[in-house]
Amino acid sequence: MNRHAMTAPGMKDGVMQEAARLDLAWAASAPRIGAAPDIALILGSGLGELAAAIEDAIFLSYGDIPGFPVSTAPSHAGRFVLGWLAGRRVVAMQGRVHLYEGWSAQDIALPVRLMRRMGAETLVVTNAAGALDPDLKPGVPMLIEDHLNLTGVNPLTGPNDDALGPRFPDMSRAYDPDLRALALAAAAEAGEHLPSGIYCGIAGPSLETSAERRWMRSTGAHAVGMSTVLEVTAAIHCGMKAVGLSAITNAAAGGPDQQPDTIEEVMANAEIAGKRIGRIPTELLPRLP
Ligand code: HPA
Repeated sequence: MNRHAMTAPGMKDGVMQEAARLDLAWAASAPRIGAAPDIALILGSGLGELAAAIEDAIFLSYGDIPGFPVSTAPSHAGRFVLGWLAGRRVVAMQGRVHLYEGWSAQDIALPVRLMRRMGAETLVVTNAAGALDPDLKPGVPMLIEDHLNLTGVNPLTGPNDDALGPRFPDMSRAYDPDLRALALAAAAEAGEHLPSGIYCGIAGPSLETSAERRWMRSTGAHAVGMSTVLEVTAAIHCGMKAVGLSAITNAAAGGPDQQPDTIEEVMANAEIAGKRIGRIPTELLPRLP
């Protein structure tokens, strides 16, 4: 897909380079965001309602930002919500974009880079995920300890703009250990049991075969989903710290008792787990640096 092809400064071979694309998005957004946020939130399936708790909200639709990807996924609203949450200035993505919609890895990176440009230094990312680990039950939250990027793509391929971030960013602490400790403390304060696990990101949109699920589990992964890994890669590249929470929506161990997955079950459990996850940011945000 080449939706941002045009003729303008920052172009190479008819395609706008990512830094120029970011500049254009920032120029359109900057006058509309109010006070600079210091925390970015990505609200996945079941978490969109958390945006309703943001006070003095300013809305910025993705469709109003030039060159921006607009989500088509069910229950994804497609706008930034800027305001106050638990005493912190936040920018939340109410709705994200996915590879399976046809967007590129660079399209997925753009909103993260824009939130960094707005001022956010910390990314709190949430998602819906299937449980490879049979001990994780649908409806529970999981703290992301680390990820496996099995999407086959990376948002940092192509020319690197050193002003955005380094060519070879270190990913050894992609999910910041200090922030994870704060998330665990926040969950305990909210009365939520919060197991930690490794999130495996795939492109989708088909779910995994049972053989793929058993293989993923054998690699040490605990949960699988269709988002997050590219966003976190972009966030680390541009110098943000990341912390992630998964809403476990379905049993995906791929064993002999594997039941067929339905979108209805996934959405229903995303709501249940989302409500439980929703209690954690209220405790987490005031603790963040
Ligand atoms: N696989 C991939 N993505 C998902 C799943 C799953 O089982 N559940 C929710 N998102």
